[in-house]
Amino acid sequence: MAKIIDGKAISAQIREEIKKETEQFAAEHGFRPGLAVIIVGEDPASQVYVRNKRRACDEVGFYSEAYELPASTTQDELNSLVDKLNADKAIHGILCQLPLPRHLDENQVILRIDPKKDVDAFHPYNVGKIMIGDYSFLPCTPAGVMALLERSGIDVCGKECVVVGRSNIVGKPQAMLLLHKSGTVTVCHSKTRDLAEVCRRADILVAAIGKADFFTGDMIKEGAVVIDVGMNRRADGKLTGDVDFATVEPKASYITPVPGGVGPMTITMLMQNTLTAAKDSVK
Ligand code: GUN
Repeated sequence: MAKIIDGKAISAQIREEIKKETEQFAAEHGFRPGLAVIIVGEDPASQVYVRNKRRACDEVGFYSEAYELPASTTQDELNSLVDKLNADKAIHGILCQLPLPRHLDENQVILRIDPKKDVDAFHPYNVGKIMIGDYSFLPCTPAGVMALLERSGIDVCGKECVVVGRSNIVGKPQAMLLLHKSGTVTVCHSKTRDLAEVCRRADILVAAIGKADFFTGDMIKEGAVVIDVGMNRRADGKLTGDVDFATVEPKASYITPVPGGVGPMTITMLMQNTLTAAKDSVK
């Protein structure tokens, strides 16, 4: 029987801490951390994320602005908005929800956001800082995973850590954060030979490939910590992770559920980064 890592409870605890720090910050400096969220087009999943991000801002006492732009927005218009927000003293964090409509270049936007306001930590400057272990902004999902491990009392030092997935948003930065905690890290992907065999070596398995219920009990070492970053919709509309909970849970020592595991932590880490950006702005 695995212990369930309750991402909702841990997230609520951290948001409470951020809220307290925000009140102190506002009393000291006379303004609140400010986050601007940009969304282009009408992707329903993105709209839900953006709504949740604004709600989280209200919860912790931040100032927030939302820019809901039509799908017909041009690159120049989007770039101009980023320039305006870069120059706005009330805004400490800028997040442009991805993916963008196909005619827009995500890379241009990522490069245009001032690295000091890049609360997603997607700008190459911040990616480089993460690589060398000198970071003010942590990429939100991997940082959420690290916070879950830490607050569950799971030490990474010396452990076999297997990250499955090599995206710029999750897999690659996740590997770096685990490495900085002295884990022995293997990154697997779609071309990995005998994936099951590599997964069976893991003391800590981070599943981030976006395939519903892909990781089954036979791929897990007895007593492993299993972190499920997946967010997939089954045919019946139910939300499910990358891990087949029913067969993996009996073998794991700790496991994150979906929903209620990594998901709630991602936005909480975004709040943490925005507070950091506001603090850095008065240094
Ligand atoms: N789309 C899916 N995840 C993310 C994220 O973490 N940040 C942004 N900006 N867009 C996303």
